[in-house]
Amino acid sequence: MAVDQSGVWRFRDLLPILDDPNRAVTLREGNTPLYDLPRNARALGLDFLLAKHQGMNPTGSFKDTGMTAALSVARERGFEWVACASTGNTSAAMAAFAARAGLRSIVFIPEGKIAWGKLSQSMDYGALTVQLRTDFDGCVRILTDLVKRFPIYLLNSVNPYRLEGQKTPAFEMAEQMDWQVPEHIIVPGGNLANSAALGKGFAEMHHLGLINRVPTISVIQAEGANPLWRTMQENDGRELVSVTAETRASAIRIGSPASWQKSVKVIRSTGGWVEQVSEQEIALAKAQIGAEGIGCEPASAVTLAGLRKLVAQGKIHAEQRVVLILTGHTLKDSDYTINYHRDELFTEAERSAMSSAEKAEQESF
Ligand code: F0G
Repeated sequence: MAVDQSGVWRFRDLLPILDDPNRAVTLREGNTPLYDLPRNARALGLDFLLAKHQGMNPTGSFKDTGMTAALSVARERGFEWVACASTGNTSAAMAAFAARAGLRSIVFIPEGKIAWGKLSQSMDYGALTVQLRTDFDGCVRILTDLVKRFPIYLLNSVNPYRLEGQKTPAFEMAEQMDWQVPEHIIVPGGNLANSAALGKGFAEMHHLGLINRVPTISVIQAEGANPLWRTMQENDGRELVSVTAETRASAIRIGSPASWQKSVKVIRSTGGWVEQVSEQEIALAKAQIGAEGIGCEPASAVTLAGLRKLVAQGKIHAEQRVVLILTGHTLKDSDYTINYHRDELFTEAERSAMSSAEKAEQESF
């Protein structure tokens, strides 16, 4: 049966969200590889570094695991239309799963601010694709108003069923590591649903006695899109500090994340950290992941850049096992990669602000 081939629905006993899970809308999502990164481990002085590659999902990002769950609920409840605001990956996933389910979909994306690969996907899968002259946070506001007035099922990450699907990679990781979960999980932070969902997955396994402890979950943001980092610095996670977001890692160009409270809870309860990384650090980390034959999109590369900082700060030690969550496929944003390797990604001003050690490191990748 199709659901048995899904890395999400094979955990259906832990996903009590559908009357009939055998009728789930699936594209055989999940079951993604856990790669080792030996050269990066060595460079960081770690014994063991792994990457859970969620970019190997059917539409090329981790969003598929949440979308199979939420789209299935939408169909079961009889909706004809679904919608989301997106920096590109949620919209690609939603468009694909809606098409499979025979539902219509509407996508709101910030004009000129998402990678072409992602824009092309929502068109390819037949979504009504609307570019708005605002940023992601503006798209969310407009969509929230629209769904109040029309019978449209909202598929942004505030949708609780998306989190249910997105918790399943935690189960897979535990399974892939013979139930000896790693000491540390490092997740990119945008709208902050993924860190919340993975935290839920590990907490549930712990509660069921499947694992004997939970990993620390740390969240990494881009310096130019760092509302969670600022929230932790400025008021210890009590009140969200929204920012005007700007980063070339367009997937995480988000200034006012919806799931920040859930994410803070997960970071706190697991003993994790929040870090921010610069544009140069992101680009270098992306090239270093690419150079191991793995590759990922820029937003995913914040994990390696953040890990480097956590190791330098003495928070993560050589013998501890670390898993980076690579959220999107390298082909999602090929313009970024080409610009980097042609030395056209950074402006003159940015280049002259780099130290000679940074320049040398960039040139070696
Ligand atoms: N990595 C990628 C590749 C993403 O697409 C996103 C979010 C994130 C990380 C951040 O995950 O929001 O759960 O903290 N992309 C959303 C979108 C916002 O619309 O595709 P998060």
